[in-house]
Amino acid sequence: MYKCFGQRGGWMSANNWDAHLYDRSHRFVSEYGNHLIELLAPHKDEKVLDIGCGTGDLANELYEHGINVIGIDYAESMVEQAQQKYPHIRFEVGDITQLPYEDEFDAIFSNAVLHWVKSPKLALESIYQSLQSGGRFVAEFGGKGNVSNLTTNIIREVREAGYAFDEKKFPWYFPSIAAYTTLMEQVGFQVTYARLYERPTRLVGDAGLKNWLSMFADSFFHDVPVDKRDVLVKQIEQALSKERDEDGNWLADYVRLQIIGKKI
Ligand code: BEZ
Repeated sequence: MYKCFGQRGGWMSANNWDAHLYDRSHRFVSEYGNHLIELLAPHKDEKVLDIGCGTGDLANELYEHGINVIGIDYAESMVEQAQQKYPHIRFEVGDITQLPYEDEFDAIFSNAVLHWVKSPKLALESIYQSLQSGGRFVAEFGGKGNVSNLTTNIIREVREAGYAFDEKKFPWYFPSIAAYTTLMEQVGFQVTYARLYERPTRLVGDAGLKNWLSMFADSFFHDVPVDKRDVLVKQIEQALSKERDEDGNWLADYVRLQIIGKKI
């Protein structure tokens, strides 16, 4: 068992994600990940590591493509749930910046996780070391500009309610193509593909925004007493009330970065 690399969120504690809330209300994360499997273009019997596997849905998709897949995630609650749902797959708790592998995988795959990793170069070095020569790294995560409307409104409402938010505590890393591919090349990857694109994302139902805040955005509420959070969430909902579709779902301004790198 390996230990965790840092914050990934949750009203709860950093490593103790609410895996049930994740599966119930944030299933879209892995559903969007299906097109990343197309980008990975896996071949039967390849050995693939899914880093930040969450509750295991995409690892299971890979398994069903005939892939020899291992899933790794720093959150024990997620790994436990993944293991229960998919007992035929190997899952481990581990740190993306300190993967315990050397020249082992045909491919490393990651969906919607690397924006939580504030030491991207360490993560890339660890990924590079884990790949076989010629192996590929295929990932998608939040890119430059991701959720900027959402976070601008959250921070403004938190401050207007009289609480502090220190910009240095911004929880995510959302790089541009230039910043991330430069790091990849420094580590030794040949970058064969990079794309930044807008993907407005539906947070389903009246409670969609509240669920998202509670699952992912706790660090903005660090100085807000627990019994004051509901009122503040209502104010944020009010501020973002135009960001809803005709059925009342919330629209989050996601921007994704997709990359492919080859170990040379
Ligand atoms: C994302 O997938 O881009 C994301 C998810 C949660 C918080 C921030 C970004």
